[in-house]
Amino acid sequence: MDIEAPQAAPTQQGAMQATSMQATNGTPLWLLAEITYRCPLHCVYCYNPVDFAQTENELDTEGWLRVLREARALGSVQCGFSGGEPLVRDDLEVLVAEAHRLGYYTNMLTSGVGLTAERAARLKEAGLDHIQLSFQDSTREMNDFLSHTKTFELKQRVAKLIKDNGWPMVMNVVIHRMNADYIDKIIEMAVELKAEYLELANSQYYSWALVNRDHLLPSREQLIRAERITNEYRARLGDSIRMFFVVPDYYENRPKKCMNGWGNVFLTITPDGTALPCHTAKMLPGLTFPNVRDMDLRSIWYDSDGFNRFRGKGWMKEPCRSCPEQDKDLGGCRCQAYMLTGDAANADPVCDKSLHHRVVTEAVEKAQLPEARRVEHPLIFRGPNESRRLSHGAAAAPERTPA
Ligand code: FES
Repeated sequence: MDIEAPQAAPTQQGAMQATSMQATNGTPLWLLAEITYRCPLHCVYCYNPVDFAQTENELDTEGWLRVLREARALGSVQCGFSGGEPLVRDDLEVLVAEAHRLGYYTNMLTSGVGLTAERAARLKEAGLDHIQLSFQDSTREMNDFLSHTKTFELKQRVAKLIKDNGWPMVMNVVIHRMNADYIDKIIEMAVELKAEYLELANSQYYSWALVNRDHLLPSREQLIRAERITNEYRARLGDSIRMFFVVPDYYENRPKKCMNGWGNVFLTITPDGTALPCHTAKMLPGLTFPNVRDMDLRSIWYDSDGFNRFRGKGWMKEPCRSCPEQDKDLGGCRCQAYMLTGDAANADPVCDKSLHHRVVTEAVEKAQLPEARRVEHPLIFRGPNESRRLSHGAAAAPERTPA
């Protein structure tokens, strides 16, 4: 198979930009292999589903090898190994080696836990192209608090290991209310660790971040300041480090073209083999998503109801149906529409044309209040026990406006 691998897309943002140019052919160019939900960290904004603890039966090595081959035959060119923490699986090197042999551009998204010198050498030999290392903050206190682990020094060592092995250093830091004021320190840490790329990804409010939204959504003032400081550093540092600053959807008036269009470019396989058009789609009611154990990826991608339901524009209701901007954003994010309005076929309420837009503006207005008037429950850390508790209905229900 000799489909040419894409130009190195060093960050997820970069990958999305690279793929957006080629999005018209409707093939799953980007494969996200979520090989496990197991993770030693407990991040309060983790994007894994809140009910992740109910997922059992991880695909075995053979199952993943088949996924890699079938997706490559469908036209996938970029493969991200993610989790959870992908290093938890001891067959990661086998999977990376096969992905490399098949001609993928390979990428590992990691907390760094488990990346010893020996494993780094094996992954290098297997052909891993790119590592994205996450930090929670520039200080040990906040890093360790937000992940509920003592991992700050380990991450510093892993950053060095990545450089020593010749990988480009891609640092990802989720930005939110508790670290936005220290964005200068975060950028300085990235420079000190010689990162080539820094993704300052404001938290988006899905999964665990939605549960903890009152703690995480920054104030308007914080956001403006953080973006201004990032731009000042960009001007000062030039091309020595590329910085991506991703604004939270809630502060926009138009939604993003989520996943570059449903079932258009992105294919996610969850640890148990469920195929999804985005990593949170499984929560959408009335949709079934096939499992790679039962169906081949070609049939899943082209023929399944789950992948076809929100493809294109045929599903749109007003105001999207008659909106002159419908091609630009395709109505926004189906998962956000469901989480905030109760109907995945509604316009993403981030859009100020949505009848439900006030649910977003109210959250933003709440974010301007002091803690005592804003926060309704203590931070909830991601973990199997909390997952079970929240899945059984003890969670604060997502905010919704009547459909
Ligand atoms: Fe599912 Fe946007 S995250 S469509």
